Amino acid sequence: MGNFIPEQVIEEIKFRNDIVEVVGSYITLKRTGSTYKACCPFHKEKTPSFNVNPSLQIFKCFGCGESGNVFSFLMKHQGMEFVTAAKTLADRVGISIELENDNGASKHRKLIYEINDGIAKFYQRCLKTAPGAKLAREYMQSRKLEGEMADSFQVGYAPDGWTVSSTWAKKYNYSMDQLEEAGIVLRSQKENARNKFYDRFRNRLMFPIHDSQGRVIGFSARILIEDKKAPKYVNSPETPVFHKSRVLYGLDKARKHIVNAPNREAVICEGQIDVVRCHLAGINTAIAAQGTAFTADHARSLKNYADSIVLAFDSDEAGKKAAIKTAIIFMDAGIAVRIAELPDGEDPDSFIQANGSVPFRKLLEDATSLITFQIKTLSSKESDANSVDATSRIANAVLHSICHSSNAVQKARLLQEAAKMLNIPEKALEEDLVKIVAEEKRIAERQAKMPRRQPDATIAQNTPTAKQQASAPYEEEPPPDLYDDDGGIEQSYNTAGTSTQPPPPRIPYDEQLLCEHVVHIVDYPKLAPLIKEYLPIKMVTNPNCRKLITCALDALSQNNDLLEELLAEGDDFAEVLAYAEKLISTPVKVTGKREFLPAEAVQDIILNMWRNKLDAERREIRAKGNTLTTEEGVRRRQITLDLKSMRRWETGHDIINIERELLE
Ligand code: CTP
Ligand code: MN
Repeated sequence: MGNFIPEQVIEEIKFRNDIVEVVGSYITLKRTGSTYKACCPFHKEKTPSFNVNPSLQIFKCFGCGESGNVFSFLMKHQGMEFVTAAKTLADRVGISIELENDNGASKHRKLIYEINDGIAKFYQRCLKTAPGAKLAREYMQSRKLEGEMADSFQVGYAPDGWTVSSTWAKKYNYSMDQLEEAGIVLRSQKENARNKFYDRFRNRLMFPIHDSQGRVIGFSARILIEDKKAPKYVNSPETPVFHKSRVLYGLDKARKHIVNAPNREAVICEGQIDVVRCHLAGINTAIAAQGTAFTADHARSLKNYADSIVLAFDSDEAGKKAAIKTAIIFMDAGIAVRIAELPDGEDPDSFIQANGSVPFRKLLEDATSLITFQIKTLSSKESDANSVDATSRIANAVLHSICHSSNAVQKARLLQEAAKMLNIPEKALEEDLVKIVAEEKRIAERQAKMPRRQPDATIAQNTPTAKQQASAPYEEEPPPDLYDDDGGIEQSYNTAGTSTQPPPPRIPYDEQLLCEHVVHIVDYPKLAPLIKEYLPIKMVTNPNCRKLITCALDALSQNNDLLEELLAEGDDFAEVLAYAEKLISTPVKVTGKREFLPAEAVQDIILNMWRNKLDAERREIRAKGNTLTTEEGVRRRQITLDLKSMRRWETGHDIINIERELLE
């Protein structure tokens, strides 16, 4: 093929593809001591003399002499050329190969890396020396984020202005289109200013996000002074080099420590400041997701470095919920999970600052299993955790977690643990578990039958442009007169709340709640049948919510990523996309004590929407006063009865079925 793959990419592919896993996916390997054995796939034999050595990352057959590394195995076993083998292995671990003669795409990406790198350094210089960065420097001091380690995270400051980066770009000969593509500037949405651009990051602390090779791929920008009207973090949009759902913040620094840590254990935090703090405190295996919930993609790419993880999430309601959810995702990926318990209201950053690194290490050491954590968390939410009702709710939730364990020994241990803590005979739990496993298996099988998504190829094609993201609703535009002036760099427009865009249509609370759940539909496939069966889409009044829900159902049935699905819809969906991203990065609110399972929560929401609808109809009939027809009178009484049944799902869902037929 004559294609050239850069040496460091080949190294990266080799580093991330464990030979035992790769060979093991073609032939059955048996562990014997520190190596793995099988009957040689390259010659006929009855006793296994084919060896795979994980520490050397090679295979060798002592019968026929065939030997090599992960690349040569694929070439020999699958008859692939080197480039095809490399591509296959790269795909497996989510690396996108940039072949040198790849129609300019690689050159293009290189330019974006270059812009990111350049402007990250510019922001760093601003933080260190710009007179306007005094407040930012004080902020860094107040959070004790200075020093070499913070330097190595390249923390910087984006000055307060609308055209700072434009001026920077002029100096280095980058075009505004290029800056837009890198996600640094936004194009004006105003009719008369379509060729004007303004800075996405203004007066914020800049945390560059690096890929595993240490290149700057995007930014996460923290506000300096809390402001209810502005988001705490503004993140880079998806760009040709930045894919939010795959980023692990800090991995470039942590990975060499993770692979050498006992049990290859990584520490996972929620926020990037937590990660920086951990590294400052010498806990150098810390990483975080980037402004989004953890996904199976994250787990898959982490699996190349880690066998186990400890979650050190914020100790608040949302953090605990997220910890349970995240733990299940990692368990699914075959990674052992423990959860560290921080004192209420603390996160790793605040805890380490207050107590130092030694007590924090102790917390990590004492981290409990998901089961213990879940039982504790759920029990604390019950008014009477020992009641039969509460116990069975908790047991049910816990069993749903246990069924994600792929390892029989681990499963047995977790069951034992749950039985002991809940004071229920293990046998009873086991019986329930069998049922739950069967149910989950049915769901999985149904999903497996659906068309699979093409992994990286489609993502590359759908690579969103910064343009598609430009209309994120919270992006406030500069005042009009900015565009009359050709960009005085230090002009500051602190009071620029003068956006002329109409406010987006208000979203009814139920619909908002529903969307909050629906963005996680891939993790909770049970939501789909519920919504399809009980909520005709026309009952969703907000057009963006309607689009989002429809897309989520589609995405699930096609086994697609929701965000990709939305991106594929193009510009019309830019607002929906921004909304979905916002929801994903904000944890689901806990609205009632009973809400453990998203399906239950969604049942509540659907019931509520129907109740509101019927109630509105009843009010309409009532408003007619004495002029009711007999039919209307009957209907009114019917609705009154129905509304009573609709207080609970058990009795309500039948009514919905009837009402739904009336509606259609
Ligand atoms: N995040 C985001 N957008 C927001 C809020 C949060 O992208 N509006 C992401 C950021 O990556 C952040 C993480 O979610 O790091 C965790 O959020 P949070 O705990 O609120 O922030 P911290 O990083 O802990 O920041 P701080 O300690 O300054 O509150
Ligand atoms: Mn925090």
